[in-house]
Amino acid sequence: MENPRSELKDMNDMVCVVTGANSGLGKATATELARLGARVVMVCRDEGRGRDAQAEIKAAAELARPSRADTVDLCIADLAVQEEVYHLGETIRANYDRLDVLVNNAGVFLDTRRETVDGIEATFAVNHLAPFLLTHLVLPRLQETAGRVGEARIINVSSEAHRGASIHFDDLNAEKGYNPLQAYAQSKLANILFTHELSRRLEDTGVLVNAVHPGVVNTNIWRGSGWISRIARLFAWLYKRPEEGARSVVYLAASPEVAGVTGQYFKETEIVNPSPEAYDEKVETRLWAVSREMTGLVEDTPDESPSE
Ligand SMILES: NC(=O)c1ccc[n+]([C@@H]2O[C@H](COP(=O)([O-])OP(=O)(O)OC[C@H]3O[C@@H](n4cnc5c(N)ncnc54)[C@H](OP(=O)(O)O)[C@@H]3O)[C@@H](O)[C@H]2O)c1
Repeated sequence: MENPRSELKDMNDMVCVVTGANSGLGKATATELARLGARVVMVCRDEGRGRDAQAEIKAAAELARPSRADTVDLCIADLAVQEEVYHLGETIRANYDRLDVLVNNAGVFLDTRRETVDGIEATFAVNHLAPFLLTHLVLPRLQETAGRVGEARIINVSSEAHRGASIHFDDLNAEKGYNPLQAYAQSKLANILFTHELSRRLEDTGVLVNAVHPGVVNTNIWRGSGWISRIARLFAWLYKRPEEGARSVVYLAASPEVAGVTGQYFKETEIVNPSPEAYDEKVETRLWAVSREMTGLVEDTPDESPSE
């Protein structure tokens, strides 16, 4: 589906945080949101790659809106490191008095098992725990913004790869064995379970939260050296360009059609049913509790999680 910009909201004065904004879908999303007039806060782990992408996005934004300069900011944070996610949350809360859109986009597909400095399997840490934690940390800004202007939006970039997956509560760290496809699928299922649980907790707050599969897109996610990544690269010419894939993410961030829509899973711009596993409320609640423990939210903060 085409999304001519005329069908999207003017994002002037809005603040949008996009994680993983230096590459692939995140960069294309950040570019389009900046073109629509938003102040875009790019979250990147590598300063050099971040600065290069920031310069390109700024140039694209200025071309679209010559009157508006300097509307693309850069925050450096390795989302695999929880201390850095906490710091990022503080930075965003301190520097921005509104937050209209949070795009939890950064993600990895890892051919071999890696562990983060926090001792957590890296796919689960980056793809699920980091968005879970960052969302909690910036939620006060999203809620205040929704209270003031009527609405704020969270978009969790998931994947059709979640189908067939389940959450392995007995081995979330994949210590008993690592299967890259399983680890990735589990993390993308976790994105949808989180979306469902959070949307219930945020009912009537004006903060909308939806998950999206953007299509199969030719990005750096397939850059690994393992056989799965190598096979994926063989077919890359068939995949969408990042700008095409990002249309669905931008649609969820900026389309008036999404007003009031929450807790949904979108396949591109259509609402579809995710897998049956994604609807299990007991699993949603358990994953929420385990994720709070694994991110230190339980020990460090009183339970300020929105409650049902
Ligand atoms: N491509 C597809 O076909 C497809 C399909 C469905 C869903 N998705 C989802 O789309 C999202 C974006 O992926 P993509 O395909 O655009 O891949 P990509 O080009 O590799 O982009 C991923 C982004 O995430 C960043 N990132 C990775 N680990 C990070 C960390 N520890 N801290 C901070 N940033 C980190 C990357 O930064 P670096 O450049 O520094 O590595 C990069 O900016 C992912 O959530 C993925 O699961 C992709």
